[in-house]
Amino acid sequence: MKSQNKIWFSILFLAATFTGHSNSWAVQVQIQPGGYDLDAIMRVMTVITLLFIAFVIWLAVVYSEKNDNEGRLFKNPLSNLKKYLVSLQPIEKEAEILLDHDFDGIRELDSRIPPWYSFLFYGTIVWGIIYMMVFHVFGNGQVSSNEYNQEMQQAAFERQLLIKSGAFISEATVTQLTDPAALSEGKEIFQKDCVTCHGQNAQGVVGPNLTDDYWINGGGIKNIFRTITNGVPAKGMISWQTQLDPKKIQTVASYVMSLHGTNPPNAKPPQGEKWEEPKTDSANAQK
Ligand code: HEC
Repeated sequence: MKSQNKIWFSILFLAATFTGHSNSWAVQVQIQPGGYDLDAIMRVMTVITLLFIAFVIWLAVVYSEKNDNEGRLFKNPLSNLKKYLVSLQPIEKEAEILLDHDFDGIRELDSRIPPWYSFLFYGTIVWGIIYMMVFHVFGNGQVSSNEYNQEMQQAAFERQLLIKSGAFISEATVTQLTDPAALSEGKEIFQKDCVTCHGQNAQGVVGPNLTDDYWINGGGIKNIFRTITNGVPAKGMISWQTQLDPKKIQTVASYVMSLHGTNPPNAKPPQGEKWEEPKTDSANAQK
């Protein structure tokens, strides 16, 4: 390979390597939108990487022999900076730094380490310190484990909210509530929404008596929950699922259950079939 080709090849190789890295960072930034710190750090890192690429390309160019001889384009006005960074001793002064080893005629110069090389070295130290401070000392570089914990916390919190709102309550999972607070809340809903058809004491008006042993659509918390949720539109019992959330339906259904056997005055005669609570069901209801 001609030496100039070699240089262009190395430049392309370096550029590909570095941009490969910054691409993978960009992806990380995208999948972690919550990490404010990380975003900023990634952006700074990308800028620094680009500066490094530029620096390395520039070094490759100034070190190419060809450009050294003819490439004024790159040498001026950068030649002074280059001279400083590379700190080569002019040939005339080489005698001063010649060490007195001699091996088969090969002799050694006591050149100082080129500053560009030292800068790279010190740069990694500075970078290491910044990195350690951000990720380990001040702690919140949003490393994956932090993020994971945060998301788990958030999910647990949202789950609590969902449980409170009753989103997980369905015909299959609903249980009968017996605490006085829930029952009085259920009573309120019943007084507001249900008495027109079922009567002040659930004795039955247009709708059936809800206090006796007889049920058209099945008794027990699960059936009652389903009847209130879906209604029996053909028979005049409307569906309440758009107006009452599952939690409220559970509450009012529990209130209806609590009225069982209260024998209100003017009770409507029994309709439907006698309901007996299956043994396993009541065991479930205790849970
Ligand atoms: C517009 C009148 C109307 C309103 C308001 C109404 N219901 Fe009903 N309800 C009915 C009718 C009619 C039936 C009988 C349905 C049937 O024959 O299957 C019924 C049936 C029921 C049943 C099943 C009874 C059985 O024997 O299976 C329950 C439980 C019930 N209603 C609860 C409620 C609750 C709780 C409310 C208030 C949130 C309510 N209803 C509001 C008319 C109403």
